[in-house]
Amino acid sequence: MEKLRVRLGVNSYDIHIGPNLLAQTGRILKETGFSDKLVIVTDTKVGSLYGNTLKQGLFSNGFDVLTIEIPEGEEQKSLETAGRLYQQLTDFYAERTTPILALGGGVIGDLAGFVAATYMRGVPLIQIPTTLLAQGDSSIGGKVAVNHGLLKNKIGAFHQPRLTISDITTLKTLSPRELSDGLAEIIKHGVILDGEFFSYLEENIDKIRSFDDQVLERVVSRSAEIKAGVVEKDELDLGLRNILNYGHTVGHAIESVSELKVWHGEAVALGMLVEARISNRLGIMENNEVDRLKKLITRAGLPTEIPGLQVERLIQAMKHDKKILQGRIRFVLPRSIGNVFISDEVSQSVIEESLTG
Ligand SMILES: NC(=O)c1ccc[n+]([C@@H]2O[C@H](COP(=O)([O-])OP(=O)(O)OC[C@H]3O[C@@H](n4cnc5c(N)ncnc54)[C@H](O)[C@@H]3O)[C@@H](O)[C@H]2O)c1
Repeated sequence: MEKLRVRLGVNSYDIHIGPNLLAQTGRILKETGFSDKLVIVTDTKVGSLYGNTLKQGLFSNGFDVLTIEIPEGEEQKSLETAGRLYQQLTDFYAERTTPILALGGGVIGDLAGFVAATYMRGVPLIQIPTTLLAQGDSSIGGKVAVNHGLLKNKIGAFHQPRLTISDITTLKTLSPRELSDGLAEIIKHGVILDGEFFSYLEENIDKIRSFDDQVLERVVSRSAEIKAGVVEKDELDLGLRNILNYGHTVGHAIESVSELKVWHGEAVALGMLVEARISNRLGIMENNEVDRLKKLITRAGLPTEIPGLQVERLIQAMKHDKKILQGRIRFVLPRSIGNVFISDEVSQSVIEESLTG
């Protein structure tokens, strides 16, 4: 088992990463100082797979538990669902000290995190991520949000978890498409900051896809460490943290225009490739580096061509993005694998050409 510390002053917290941690969560929470009642928020699929294991450990450590199960899917990241959760918390007499445990993927983490950030002006949040995307990325850093219609993460907050517990064993029940989807943000961490990690992913991609425990633990740990390192330097997303948006300017647009048929990680993979091609067209990223990225994305089981490409709608969607600054579309562009910069000076024709290939 590995333990990472995210150092954010009074908001500092630990991330536990390892196999079979769900059953130990009750003990870990008790050691962290929690007692009495708590609320698990999960989706129906994760709840049926892992709810009991988690609850048994909580009961045997004396916790009074309310479990709230919501349907699966990105559509649940909405103010409507948040409203129903507030009501259930109220009915349970949840107090300002009652922690919310987000058991599930990034959707549950973002939604339950948003509810934790806003219910009674904030209650403790414990992230228990069960997808690769959530373990290696979304459960770290405190960004929580719901969507506004098709506009991703429009309504949100910063609310750091008090603890994150990543049980690697839970990854084994992901479908191949779900595992691949989670790999996109992990590859992204290699491209933005760590060329060596990118090479490790190249060498071990087949082991990752066959759920090798040791490799998965290393991948989740390093990915979490890279993200935590950025968040520690820029908790509130005022500068450096922008580099985590690599692949997202185009990716979020693809997600919106596809009406969420393209999943988040798939859209980010497509976005990373388009943004690498933009850099290449600007004469910065070399052909062989773009090829390396495309090859790893392909070997990770992720798409490299935008389905039903609609250039105008994608550009329109990019203009609605949160990353817009004074009306200009802002991109994180790779110079090479492991090194990125930010630019808002990309012409529309370069964007259009790079979307198509
Ligand atoms: N807050 C952040 O910093 C941040 C960063 C990146 C992405 N996100 C958000 O994360 C979300 C995507 O997260 P996701 O990809 O984890 O999707 P998800 O939460 O929808 O999970 C995908 C599917 O996998 C199922 N699942 C989860 N764990 C499982 C397991 N162990 N075994 C079997 N099935 C399992 C879920 O029921 C769901 O059907 C998006 O909403 C995105 O915006 C947030």
